Amino acid sequence: MCGIVGYVASADRVGAPRALDVLLEGLRRLEYRGYDSAGVATIADGQVAARKKAGKLVNLLDEIDQAPMAPARVGIGHTRWATHGGPTDENAHPHLGDGSRLAVIHNGIIENFTVLKARLVEAGEVFESQTDTEVAAKLIGQFYRGEAAGDLTEAMRLAVNELQGAFTLLAVHADAPEQVVAARRNSPLVVGLGEGENFLGSDVSGFIDFTRDAVELEQDQIVTITADDVAIIGFDGVPATGRRFYVDWDAAAAEKGGFDTFMEKEIHDQPKAVEDTLLGRSDAAGRLSLDELRIDPQDLKEVTKIMVIACGTAAYAGHVAKYAIEHWCRIPVEVELAHEFRYRDPIIDSNTLVVSISQSGETMDTLMAVRYAKEQGAKTLAICNTNGSTIPRESDAVLYLHAGPEIAVASTKAFLAMIAASYVLGLYLAQLRGQMFAEEIGDVMADLGQIPQKIQQILDQADPIRELARAMKDTPSVLFLGRHVGYPVALEGALKLKELAYIHAEGFAAGELKHGPIALIEPGQPVFVVVPSPHGRHSVHSKVVSNIQEVRARGAKTITVAEEGDEAVTEFSEEVFFVPETQPLLMPLLTTVPLQIFACALAAEKGYDVDQPRNLAKSVTVE
Ligand code: M6R
Repeated sequence: MCGIVGYVASADRVGAPRALDVLLEGLRRLEYRGYDSAGVATIADGQVAARKKAGKLVNLLDEIDQAPMAPARVGIGHTRWATHGGPTDENAHPHLGDGSRLAVIHNGIIENFTVLKARLVEAGEVFESQTDTEVAAKLIGQFYRGEAAGDLTEAMRLAVNELQGAFTLLAVHADAPEQVVAARRNSPLVVGLGEGENFLGSDVSGFIDFTRDAVELEQDQIVTITADDVAIIGFDGVPATGRRFYVDWDAAAAEKGGFDTFMEKEIHDQPKAVEDTLLGRSDAAGRLSLDELRIDPQDLKEVTKIMVIACGTAAYAGHVAKYAIEHWCRIPVEVELAHEFRYRDPIIDSNTLVVSISQSGETMDTLMAVRYAKEQGAKTLAICNTNGSTIPRESDAVLYLHAGPEIAVASTKAFLAMIAASYVLGLYLAQLRGQMFAEEIGDVMADLGQIPQKIQQILDQADPIRELARAMKDTPSVLFLGRHVGYPVALEGALKLKELAYIHAEGFAAGELKHGPIALIEPGQPVFVVVPSPHGRHSVHSKVVSNIQEVRARGAKTITVAEEGDEAVTEFSEEVFFVPETQPLLMPLLTTVPLQIFACALAAEKGYDVDQPRNLAKSVTVE
C-alpha cells in the first residue's frame, strides 16, 4: 500500500547526478504497491522540485518529459494507493510544507489528522489536498521553523510524536540538501547501503538494481541517510542500530522473463517456487529439520491448539493447512481472517500456536493480529515470503517460503508456496510429537517432491484452459464448488476471477449447494467443480460427482478439474481439465493451477491489466 523510495548521493560520486533515475526505477519496481498516482521531489539549485500525477507511473513519466527536472543528488518518490482523498493530481504525493521548501511522502494512515489539521489551519497553514499526509508535511514544516531550529531529523521526531496511526514518512528540505529523513511506525521501510550513496525503500525492490546490502529498521525509529552515513534514533531520540542483511534474490527474478505479464510469469514460476519452498527441509530419508524456525521444539510439543490467521489468498492457504495439520498431527486447528480475530476475544493461551501466513509480511490486519496474539501469551509463527518484513520479525518463529518476489498484485505462486510450507510445518509437528512414522512422513515428502514436475505438466497442457477462458469472456458470473481441500481451492478460484476479470464469482463448499446456492443455477450458468481424488479412505468423490449432476440437471455449464483417469466426471462435464494424480491432501497444489490460468486468460481477453487490477494493492498496510 503505497511505495516509497528515497535517495541521496555525494557530490563526488562518479557519474552524473542520478537521483531522478534511481527514484523512477525504484517506483517502477514498487508500483505494485499502489498505482493511483505517482510523484517525485528532488532538491536542486537550493529548491524543492516536485512532479506528481494521478494514475499509473507512466503518467508521471509523461509529465516529467513535458516539464524536465534538473539533475539532482537527493530525492524522494511515491506511488500511491489512495486512502484519504481521491486519486487526483492534488492528492498525489509529495506534499509540501514550510513554504514549499519541504517535501513529504507517506505510506499509511494518520488517524488523528482531522484534529491536527484544524490546529494547523488555525495557525495559518493553507491546505491543497484532502490527504492526511499534507498534515504531516505542514507539521514537520512548523517544527523545522520553530522548536527544531532547522534540524530536519528533530522536526521529524517532534512531528511523529504527535501522530497516531500507521506511517512511513520521508522528508527532504531545500535547506538540508545532503539528507533524507524517514520515520516508521507500523508501515514498512528498509535502508539500502551503497558506495557514496544510500537508499530508502518500502521494500528492497525499491533499490535492488543498485545494492543488495540492506538495513532493517525497528518499530518507531527515525533514520537519517546522507551519502556516507545512516543514523538511526528512536522516536524518543535515543540512538539505535538496525540489523544488516543481504538481499539474496537477484533483480532478474523481479522481471517478466519473456512473459507479457508478471502474472503469467509467476504462474509459470510455480514449479520452482514449490521446489524452493521444500528445498533443504528434509534429509534423504525424508526426516524434517526446521532449525530456522527459532522456536524451542519443546514449546511446539506442548502446543494444544493452532490458530491460523491471514487474509485473502493467504487465508485460503490457511484453510488447506487446517485439513493437513489436523489430519497429520491431531491438533485442533482454527483458521480465521486476521481482521476478525483480534476483535472477538479469541481463546488463546501460552499453549496456543498462532500461525500467520502472509506473502508480504506487512499486511496490517495480520500484523495487528500477531501482536494481539503475542500480548495474550500465545506463541507466534510466521509463514512468509518476504525476508526482513515486519510480521516474521515480530514473530517467535518463521518459516520463509523462498518463492522469490511476487510482483503481480493478485497472488499465485505465493499461494502454492504457502500451502507447501504449511505441509512442511504439519509434517514437522507430526514428527516432533510422534504422530506419524518416519516412513509415512518420508512418503508424503517424496510425493511433495514430485509436485513441481506435475505442475509443469499442467502448465505445458494449458492451451485448452486459455481457449475456454477466451470463449467465456462475456460471462457475467461463475460459480466454483469444492469439497474437503478442494473447498479453499474453489474460494481461491473465485477470488482470482473477481480480482482479475471483475466479474461476479463465488466459491462454495459443494456440500452446501443444496442448502441455498443451488437456487443460483439457471440454464447456462458456468460452474467450476474442483473434484476430490477418488482415492483415499474418506473420499467424498462420489458426493461431488452427484453435485455435478445436480447442477447440470438444472442447466449449468459444468467445468471440472479432476484427477487424471477420473472418468466418472467426464460424462457430466462440458469441459474437464485433468491434473496428475497425487495424495488427496496435496491436490490443491495441482487443482489451483487451471483456475489461475483461466482467470488470467479471461481477464487478458477482456483487455484488463492483470498485474495491476483496479482498486487493489499488493501489500495492504492499512487496517
Ligand atoms: O501479503 P499477504 O499474503 O498478507 O496478503 C494477503 C492478501 O491481501 C492477499 O492475499 C490478497 O487477497 C491478494 N490480492 C490475493 O490475490
